[in-house]
Amino acid sequence: MSLTTTITEVAPAAEKSTTTNKDKEPYRYAHLMPFLSKVKMPPLTPFTHVDPGSRALNHPNPRSFLDKAEVIELTPNFASDIRGVNLAALDNDAKDQLALEVARRGVVVFRDQQDFFDRGPEFYTTWGRHFGRLHIHPSSPHPEGYPEIHLVYKDANSKFNSETITSTVWHADFSFELQPPGLTTFFLLSQPKTGGDTLYSSQVLNLKRLSPTFVAFLRTLKAEHTGIGTLRASRGGGFERREPVENIHPVVRRHPVTGEEALYVNKQFTKRIVGLKREESENILNFLYDHIAKAGDNQARIKWSPNSMVLWDNRSAIADYGHLGAVRHGARITPQAERPIPALESLVLDDQ
Ligand SMILES: [Fe+2]
Repeated sequence: MSLTTTITEVAPAAEKSTTTNKDKEPYRYAHLMPFLSKVKMPPLTPFTHVDPGSRALNHPNPRSFLDKAEVIELTPNFASDIRGVNLAALDNDAKDQLALEVARRGVVVFRDQQDFFDRGPEFYTTWGRHFGRLHIHPSSPHPEGYPEIHLVYKDANSKFNSETITSTVWHADFSFELQPPGLTTFFLLSQPKTGGDTLYSSQVLNLKRLSPTFVAFLRTLKAEHTGIGTLRASRGGGFERREPVENIHPVVRRHPVTGEEALYVNKQFTKRIVGLKREESENILNFLYDHIAKAGDNQARIKWSPNSMVLWDNRSAIADYGHLGAVRHGARITPQAERPIPALESLVLDDQ
């Protein structure tokens, strides 16, 4: 399980362009440039999520989709880098295996996926629906006609917040929703020659480093996550199409497939720990944010190369690095998953 960051991932409303800035040839992905819809959307409604990884649990060989692949484990227990699998050609059985593999490894990058890129937005959304109901971002731009594809777009005109010392903001994508995302797919259609890397942190490992006594206390806690300010975070580049929501989630959640426990707070969207005094809540949350940011041994840094795709379990963590002066154009397909399951079964979430 892992977390995600804002600053480079929230797309500003870019001018629609059909050429790259370095040459005048037609841009291969012009049809996927950001489009800012101002059509209002109703609130999301609850639904039952069945995680596709659960279907692979009883498979005789749940890693058979990797039989011909080259797998590099980036750290012992978190993140893999894989060549030799064409994601676009996977059947449903292999997609279920993939979901289980991503749940177990947290983050997996697949190289050489031009075939997937070339299939286009209709294929991207069909792909995503295998893993869950697709989330539509409440405020950011998307390719015209495909609101389920969340775009990340930066170019030479993009600005970073000069009031902070880093563009890295650890976060789990839209953790403020009642049913935040599970298996998430992200790929860069254009990228800087260097930079624009994505950093991930394992919330499973972050939790495991804490003392059993402290973890036992954290399991008894729930936190409020807020979507208010999401638009502000995009610094004026979006339009609030859906009313922002706030929801209560356990501070320690259990994965529905692996059964693993993970820390589930993030600096961007977690507002407070329910039932604690303000100073208690702030000190505990700041300690946890500090732990997440500093625990380099629980992190993996993905170096992008052309035609790479990253799949991660959004029940855990990521962060992007900024890069100015070149186009960074990415697409994210983000299925929602279950309402976070408390690691402590007796924890009642709706009783504030
Ligand atoms: Fe993100």
